Amino acid sequence: MTEKVSLSYKGKTYEYSTITGSENEEAFDISCLRRETGLITMDYGYQNTGSTKSSITYVNGEQGILRYRGYSIEDLAEKATFPETAWLLIYGELPTEEELTVFRRLLTENSLVHANLLHFFREVPPSAHPMGILSSVVNALGLFAPKYYDAETDASELELMITALISKIRTIAAFSYKASIGEPFVYPEANRSYCANFLNMMFSSHTKPYVVNPIMEKVLNTLLIIHADHEQNCSTSTVRMVGSSQANLYASVCAGICALWGPLHGGANQAVLETLIRVQKSGMTIKEVLEKAKSKEDPFKLSGFGHRVYKSYDPRAKILKGLMEKLFNEEDSQDPLIDIARELEHQALQDDYFIERKLYPNVDFYSGILYRAMGIPTNMLTVMFAIGRLPGWIAHWKEMHNDPQSKINRPRQIYTGPSQKKWIDRNLRG
Ligand code: SDX
Repeated sequence: MTEKVSLSYKGKTYEYSTITGSENEEAFDISCLRRETGLITMDYGYQNTGSTKSSITYVNGEQGILRYRGYSIEDLAEKATFPETAWLLIYGELPTEEELTVFRRLLTENSLVHANLLHFFREVPPSAHPMGILSSVVNALGLFAPKYYDAETDASELELMITALISKIRTIAAFSYKASIGEPFVYPEANRSYCANFLNMMFSSHTKPYVVNPIMEKVLNTLLIIHADHEQNCSTSTVRMVGSSQANLYASVCAGICALWGPLHGGANQAVLETLIRVQKSGMTIKEVLEKAKSKEDPFKLSGFGHRVYKSYDPRAKILKGLMEKLFNEEDSQDPLIDIARELEHQALQDDYFIERKLYPNVDFYSGILYRAMGIPTNMLTVMFAIGRLPGWIAHWKEMHNDPQSKINRPRQIYTGPSQKKWIDRNLRG
């Protein structure tokens, strides 16, 4: 027997059924609230509002749990490849050996962008932000696609579009970097892994040999897995919002990339590194950084700290911190930013302001240092987040399209503007 929620309003009592998820999360269904009571709910930032049921990812913010289709992020980060994880998120199960072989082949065969698009990379200014390039080119891919995904597109054609997009986002990122430094494009090679191909396209050149470091290849694989999905975050909800109008996959993902760009979301990884570099170069003390972050008069937030859902240590930050310690011990190299990051975390976690508000390091706090270690420029950090998050966006877009309960997203509002006014001719206005 499901629990009921009662609401008393203006002398009447209304009952609403509850929904219990597979991990015992609970919600009450208000789909007929306005029709019955005339009321809508108000919930800035949707902090208490569920937009959908989903079987893709489970996050428990209190216990610091993250699972993709039931598999823990710890297991996936240690044992899976990024293509395996992408398949798991999108199709619901880990791929068989045969499925993975075909997936890898299709990733290789569909890794190029249409030659006409190459002019775009050359025409944008070298200082253009790679997230602006990525969102533009991803949307442009649709212009070259055999057909937009719509209700009639069959499953095998959609699978090919999805695979091609996962492959091409890597190429777009590397080509935008090469164009920004004025170097010729380096093309994907059939015999390389997803991650090795990306590193080679980024850093190989016709004048100096580049050998992919297997340690960095593994670090990149883990980073992309860590970023692959996170339930109804801002950018994924944006992909669902845009896709709910039946806009095509490219347009929906383009919107997700733009939402991720913001410094409160995926843009935080770039902001973290900029903060660490600022401390290193300006001599600003950690204490001064924390005071700025705590000041209500200062819009500065300590990027890489805090989370809407995690009110404990983000399990992804824990994995990335461990990976960073391991990498810099193995490589016997030190990045001065690591000591600054460690001290920043140490002092913040001792500070009442952060303790009272349960602000812990999130996925963005250490990721930038790892990307920097493989040579990724600071302004490309959020692009790296997007490459990792793409399978999650696609999985949610697909789940929404296959959900019979899915409707176009159209929230309500409470109007607070002026009541009706009489028209005033222009010559009579003061
Ligand atoms: C990602 O949703 C997801 O899952 C996102 C993500 C994913 O995988 O998709 O996990 C990826 O976006 C991680 C978050 C990256 N962003 C940052 O690191 C930016 C810095 N963090 C904050 O801006 C903030 O913590 C958010 C945006 C992450 C969460 O904001 P909320 O949930 O709206 O919380 P809030 O702003 O209401 O904060 C509550 C209090 C406020 O102070 P009071 O008004 O109570 O006095 O905590 C303060 C905030 O000012 N606060 C911070 C802070 N984060 C919260 N103060 C200083 N520095 C911070 N980082």
